Amino acid sequence: MRPSLIRIGPNVIDVWRWNLDPSPCDIDRLFPLLNGEERTRAGRFVYPEHRQHFIAGRAGLRLVLGHYLRIPPHRIGLTYNVFGKPRLAGAAEMLHFNLSHTADMAMLAVSDHYPVGIDVEAIKPLKEDVAGHFFSRRECAALAPLSGEDYLQAFYRCWTRKEAFVKAHGAGLSLPLDSFDVSVDAASPPRLEALEGDSDAPLNWSLFDLVTPPGFAGTLAALTLGNAVQVRECDEEVLALKASVAHPAHNDPQRRQNGGSRAIRA
Ligand SMILES: CC(C)(COP(=O)(O)OP(=O)(O)OC[C@H]1O[C@@H](n2cnc3c(N)ncnc32)[C@H](O)[C@@H]1OP(=O)(O)O)[C@@H](O)C(=O)NCCC(=O)NCCS
Repeated sequence: MRPSLIRIGPNVIDVWRWNLDPSPCDIDRLFPLLNGEERTRAGRFVYPEHRQHFIAGRAGLRLVLGHYLRIPPHRIGLTYNVFGKPRLAGAAEMLHFNLSHTADMAMLAVSDHYPVGIDVEAIKPLKEDVAGHFFSRRECAALAPLSGEDYLQAFYRCWTRKEAFVKAHGAGLSLPLDSFDVSVDAASPPRLEALEGDSDAPLNWSLFDLVTPPGFAGTLAALTLGNAVQVRECDEEVLALKASVAHPAHNDPQRRQNGGSRAIRA
């Protein structure tokens, strides 16, 4: 009988972070963790760097999910909703997850209670009025008095909050981006302020600013239904998981679980 999954609980959402630029030797070890469809997709990338990032992203996803499910990474069955959101085949409600990658960094949110969405972006100067195209009137108004670095930081706060919400919601970009408002101001907590047609949404959804390296912005969104939840950062454990690919004898989930994930923040 398959052992039960490693529980996370209703008060915590795990967020994993790893680097997408492993050595060529690591890529060779990670590639076999992918399933057939993912290997085909990896083969379609024109640039080797994009191929590597995809392999390291999907392999990391499988390693982490395998950790909770206590099954080998390559045996994890993934399926997709109509908007392309990946979920576990046949057991979606058992473990919710969402992956985001930008530049050479991946972040993955995992919960055994709440649908989640995550977005991380490398902060780059903007060449056009992206906010005017994508953000709601209220969000544009909050950005209007800002300029320079303050504007850029606020823009990416807003972008990752919106994107994380869209990804958690599951409807992808079929959810009009001006049909909901998120908080933008640095002084206000991250929050869904309003969602058209759903007055309870601000109470049911939670947004969390993620700890990222300098030059990145990241948000987690989750349908927490009013429960108090903290984010638990798990980046150090991913390295142990990667090492376990090379040294299967170390692949002991219990040992990793007790290995102490670092820093908890709300
Ligand atoms: C695909 C999309 C879900 C995220 O795209 P993105 O920000 O470019 O990419 P991220 O790195 O954050 O996320 C990609 C991952 O999300 C997951 N994903 C794909 N479709 C998804 C969906 N509909 N919902 C949730 N997650 C999805 C996949 O795991 C994917 O990883 P993969 O490359 O290994 O398949 C979609 O929202 C999109 O195309 N956005 C475009 C950007 C935009 O216009 N944003 C406006 C924000 S204001």
